[in-house]
Amino acid sequence: MQRILSGIQPTNKLHLGNYLGAIKNWVNLQNQFECFFFIVDLHAITVKQDPKILRENTLDVIKTYIALGVNPKKSIIFVQSDIKEHAELAWILNTITKISELERMTQFKDKSRQHAENINVGLFAYPVLMAADILLYNTNLVPVGEDQTQHLELSRLLANRFNQLFGDTFIIPEPFIGKQGARVMGLDDPTKKMSKGASSPNNYIALLDDPDVARKKIMKAVTDSGSEIKAADNKPALANLLTIYSLLADKTIKEIEKEYAGRGYADFKKGLAETTVKFLADFQKKFNSIGDAEAKKILKSGAEKARSVAFKKMKEIKEKIGLGF
Ligand code: TRP
Repeated sequence: MQRILSGIQPTNKLHLGNYLGAIKNWVNLQNQFECFFFIVDLHAITVKQDPKILRENTLDVIKTYIALGVNPKKSIIFVQSDIKEHAELAWILNTITKISELERMTQFKDKSRQHAENINVGLFAYPVLMAADILLYNTNLVPVGEDQTQHLELSRLLANRFNQLFGDTFIIPEPFIGKQGARVMGLDDPTKKMSKGASSPNNYIALLDDPDVARKKIMKAVTDSGSEIKAADNKPALANLLTIYSLLADKTIKEIEKEYAGRGYADFKKGLAETTVKFLADFQKKFNSIGDAEAKKILKSGAEKARSVAFKKMKEIKEKIGLGF
């Protein structure tokens, strides 16, 4: 069976974009692939974190995975820092990565601008740690958004380089492009990806937003000129709302267009708001029913499974490069 691995940072409370763009696909993938879903807390600390909040966010993300349908009986769910081999392999890969290869990473350039006071070595080596995450588990397929394709390309390059230097060791991972490569855009600016880092909270709908707040955000979402509910290339705002509607309601965009034929934006937004409110209420009920102890138990058992794979792989890697006896 092909193996899939993907992770999310525990930096922010997750939003609709994280669900519709990533986690919703994961839920389907669990039935066809062997899946590893984890939380990349070692990546998170490449920017300043409050220790208490980091830990809270990590547990919240686990609860979110579970409440959205990631099933610990089917998938291996764990926290990156629980498996020491991630850092160990990252170090080894650092030694075959060229500084110039990391200097061209656009995310590094962006983050250096955003965190000019803290351009640390970890931030620079972030993509190498990501390569370690992927290669450690003999991953075949990595579902990632467009913003991570450059990092995945580096993982492939490092895997090939290592294999050439030390003999066949790593599987060359492929990007996995889901059926719906949904890219959910900001509600206040449909030209940019929905993001919790956005300057206005009206940009995103957090999964833990109060449903009434979410309703207001949708009613306030920017729209395009014209009044017809029909997707078109020159209507990025409507296209985004239709995408969200279609994914949340499990209807096609065509079906929704038909439903709203002859009706205006106000009706359409009301419908979308209702669908969203219902989704959030159901999600939050599940989320709140998962206690800390339960989440930690899932992580403990996930870590045990992940660790056994990582330990074996690390042994093979060390043998290849002459480390230890
Ligand atoms: N860098 C990814 C992101 O910000 C998160 C990540 C870290 C990841 N390691 C990974 C994703 C391994 C997939 C596989 O989205």
